[in-house]
Amino acid sequence: MSTFSQDDLKTLVGQAALKYVVKGEIVGVGTGSTVNKFIDALASIKDQIKGAVSSSNASTERLKALGIRVFDSNDVEALSVYIDGADEVDHQGFLVKGGGAALTREKIIAAQSHQFVCIADESKLVQTLGKFPLPVEVIPMAVQRVIRQFRAMGGTAQVRLRDGVALVTDNGQHIVDVTGLQITDPLAFETLVSQWPGVVTVGVFAHQKAQVCLLGTAQGVRTLTF
Ligand code: A5P
Repeated sequence: MSTFSQDDLKTLVGQAALKYVVKGEIVGVGTGSTVNKFIDALASIKDQIKGAVSSSNASTERLKALGIRVFDSNDVEALSVYIDGADEVDHQGFLVKGGGAALTREKIIAAQSHQFVCIADESKLVQTLGKFPLPVEVIPMAVQRVIRQFRAMGGTAQVRLRDGVALVTDNGQHIVDVTGLQITDPLAFETLVSQWPGVVTVGVFAHQKAQVCLLGTAQGVRTLTF
């Protein structure tokens, strides 16, 4: 029987990710409750790194509050490593992300990083992506058209609400969440949906997949490499 709570597993992988951080460099930092554990752990080695590039206002605030310098991604050519969570991880390192609505900045930082280390508890590991509602960031005027396009594919899509109104992302856009799709070819799916007018970012990370996943399990950290 596991004595680890889900929160413990997140702490475990957040701490385990420290060994991927390159001393003297800037580290890419994602968003979410698991990454928050990583940020807290990162504070313990903050004097050994230059700082971070952050994927959301929430992570930026947390980093700064802990005394970690945050750089603009435009001022950094490339990053050795990007640490971020996921909503789903498959056995090839393809991911669904965006449950925290930060997917666009996350994908940008993943693209500028040489290595993407995903941190997650074991509940996120799936055979096929698609059970978690797929987040898609969309320009407001295209929301209903994009919802119809997903319906035509056999999915059910709706705009994400917060306090009864459409959620506005850090980038000023909306999120459409899609259920009922089995994403059996993540690369082709990402390529297709990314081309729809008004789609800013689809939450399938296949072209920017993880190279490593640190999974928190009842037996400890399990490392998957892809
Ligand atoms: C944020 O937009 C997401 O991509 C997160 O990485 C994802 O939702 C995982 O979050 P948790 O670590 O809170 O589960």
